Amino acid sequence: MAALLDIRNLHVRIPVGFGHVHAVRGVNLSVEAGQTLCVVGESGSGKSMSALSVMNLLPPRAMRDADRILFDGVDIAQLGPRQMAELRGNRIGMVFQEPMTSLNPAYTVGNQLMEVHRRHRGSSRSAAWARAAELLELVGISNPEMRLRQYPHQLSGGLRQRVMIAMALMCEPGLLIADEPTSALDVTIQVQILRLLRDLQRRLGIAVVLITHDLGVVARVADTVAIMYAGQVVETGSARAVFASPRHPYTNGLLRSMPKPGNGRGEPLQAIPGTVPSLLETIPGCAFAERCARADEACRVGPIATTIEERHSFSCNHPADIRAREEV
Ligand SMILES: Nc1ncnc2c1ncn2[C@@H]1O[C@H](COP(=O)(O)OP(=O)(O)OP(=O)(O)O)[C@@H](O)[C@H]1O
Ligand code: SF4
Ligand SMILES: [Mg+2]
Repeated sequence: MAALLDIRNLHVRIPVGFGHVHAVRGVNLSVEAGQTLCVVGESGSGKSMSALSVMNLLPPRAMRDADRILFDGVDIAQLGPRQMAELRGNRIGMVFQEPMTSLNPAYTVGNQLMEVHRRHRGSSRSAAWARAAELLELVGISNPEMRLRQYPHQLSGGLRQRVMIAMALMCEPGLLIADEPTSALDVTIQVQILRLLRDLQRRLGIAVVLITHDLGVVARVADTVAIMYAGQVVETGSARAVFASPRHPYTNGLLRSMPKPGNGRGEPLQAIPGTVPSLLETIPGCAFAERCARADEACRVGPIATTIEERHSFSCNHPADIRAREEV
């Protein structure tokens, strides 16, 4: 099946006082209709910048460059600001990492939800109100009529996240991009919201790109996975293939650091030793080399071999044996 979203060779550079941060370095990502792609990686690996590139909502002065960003067959990298504004919130919904940055404290929840529908669908006030109430109910908020009259600061963090999801779904988008939609919430609410997303996705057939640090979440909801490191996708494939036989040493490290069920006594997580390289400088060779037990001179100077299998690909000169992730 053709991908609903297909990003090829995406680069994002952000000017800073003394140079630029090369935040995204040649990323390829794709997701099919009705599927969930989970994008995983440490803080600063370029997950949000990749997502914001699709929405054309990068920080001011950031430069985006891509061979293509195809959404439903149209290269949205070529669209102007007005055409992008028509897609955003309409055919592509986004739940941002910081809910308070995208909810306006000066307007009620109802006004903000209605505004999205009225702008994209030209609906009447009463139709938009009814739709907003329906969506709040859909995301599991009780007494929606009362909530619609409230301001964002009157809601708990969990409710605000749900409102954000409702807002992103107001116009029945084909694609939902959710950037850490649950990271600020306590575990019970996280689980509720993730179940809700999964359920909505099944019912509405939308494609979801879910950005998360949490491999437990990935294991529960992903159809496909992309592992990001220092602005690149180092391993990607079906969740089954990546979890069963991770090939990149970084993926192995991440999986080893994942809490295992039954570790009730709290076996400490194995952190991956070392730090992520600075994105202010050009990185010759493999960005993971300083932290990798398999690194050799060829890894440090590059180029790095990419292996593409049917449902799995990875960029590494010395990938792990496919039989066991314990080996690296
Ligand atoms: N406004 C900005 N100005 C300069 N650099 C930025 C800006 N926003 C992000 N960056 C840098 O771009 C890189 C990628 O950031 P990004 O926000 O995409 O990471 P992330 O993977 O989403 O991390 P997190 O998990 O913490 O949200 C990081 O090195 C970050 O410091
Ligand atoms: S390319 Fe080399 S340094 Fe990079 S992850 Fe693979 S083995 Fe390690
Ligand atoms: Mg982020």
